[in-house]
Amino acid sequence: MYRITVIPGDGIGVEVMEAALHVLQALEIEFEFTHAEAGNECFRRCGDTLPEETLKLVRKADATLFGAVTTVPGQKSAIITLRRELDLFANLRPVKSLPGVPCLYPDLDFVIVRENTEDLYVGDEEYTPEGAVAKRIITRTASRRISQFAFQYAQKEGMQKVTAVHKANVLKKTDGIFRDEFYKVASEYPQMEANDYYVDATAMYLITQPQEFQTIVTTNLFGDILSDEAAGLIGGLGLAPSANIGEKNALFEPVHGSAPQIAGKNIANPTAMILTTTLMLKHLNKKQEAQKIEKALQKTLMRGIMTPDLGGTASTMEMAEAIKEEIVKG
Ligand code: NAI
Ligand code: MG
Repeated sequence: MYRITVIPGDGIGVEVMEAALHVLQALEIEFEFTHAEAGNECFRRCGDTLPEETLKLVRKADATLFGAVTTVPGQKSAIITLRRELDLFANLRPVKSLPGVPCLYPDLDFVIVRENTEDLYVGDEEYTPEGAVAKRIITRTASRRISQFAFQYAQKEGMQKVTAVHKANVLKKTDGIFRDEFYKVASEYPQMEANDYYVDATAMYLITQPQEFQTIVTTNLFGDILSDEAAGLIGGLGLAPSANIGEKNALFEPVHGSAPQIAGKNIANPTAMILTTTLMLKHLNKKQEAQKIEKALQKTLMRGIMTPDLGGTASTMEMAEAIKEEIVKG
């Protein structure tokens, strides 16, 4: 039995979570789901975007599923706080084309590994008489740890190449350290190819030759931006899953946010959240069950059952129901 903490959050987070849990019910795995609160609605009710109780439930769980939250300026960000408090240092963002989906590249399969604990996301900003300054923190320890994670993951997934992405020509000290540590770790994996690109060039290569990439490893902000760009290559944010992994805990969430413009209409694409559950299943060593969901999702998309963001007419729950039926059919 697996104890899963479920944080639906705000907006479409709630809707895609309901859809994903519906699909998980088709598997022959025993889960104990415990719901927990976070985000803006939670703040309105209890004055905190991330109550202590939620943090406790995440620490205790075998894994956590997180929908999406609305972030309001001035409020503490629930997701960034969770990543930091639980030291979920690796943010894994697979970019995999799906059949039947209108997109720029129908043949991509690579992954972006984003450092999740430092960089500009430490949020150390200060007003100055001239404007403001933000502090960018890059440590050797975190750079080494994320590089090790990337090589281990690439090896496990049968990939041959890891690419570091940085801007060490301008950020000579911070990204210089990141690049140095990457190549130190690379030397421990002589059988793997290691290379590095500047982030600006990478932004272009992602459009001109994305098939080149296998595993990209990068710092927090660049990883955030490049992974949204990469989601655009395969059909948009409605399709992009992610995992936040630490030594002790793991939290799984779609890349997208709470999408307030489409919330409450039952039209959000549940695919990203459903693929997110497959990352959780793989983390729990339930690879076969993860593949069952992936196959059922692919069949559903091939039948043209998809939400409006992909040009379809299915609702969120219609798509979830179709996927569940495909799993049951086997
Ligand atoms: P967003 O990801 O919510 O939406 C961006 C665009 O993608 C919108 O046009 C939206 O309709 C579309 N979209 C996203 N997910 C979709 C889905 N599943 N199906 C169909 N269309 C989808 O990003 P945005 O608009 O920048 O932010 C909205 C709120 O979400 C903000 O408060 C932001 O802070 C928060 N946010 C939270 C995240 C998290 O919880 N991890 C991540 C990103 C944003
Ligand atoms: Mg983002």
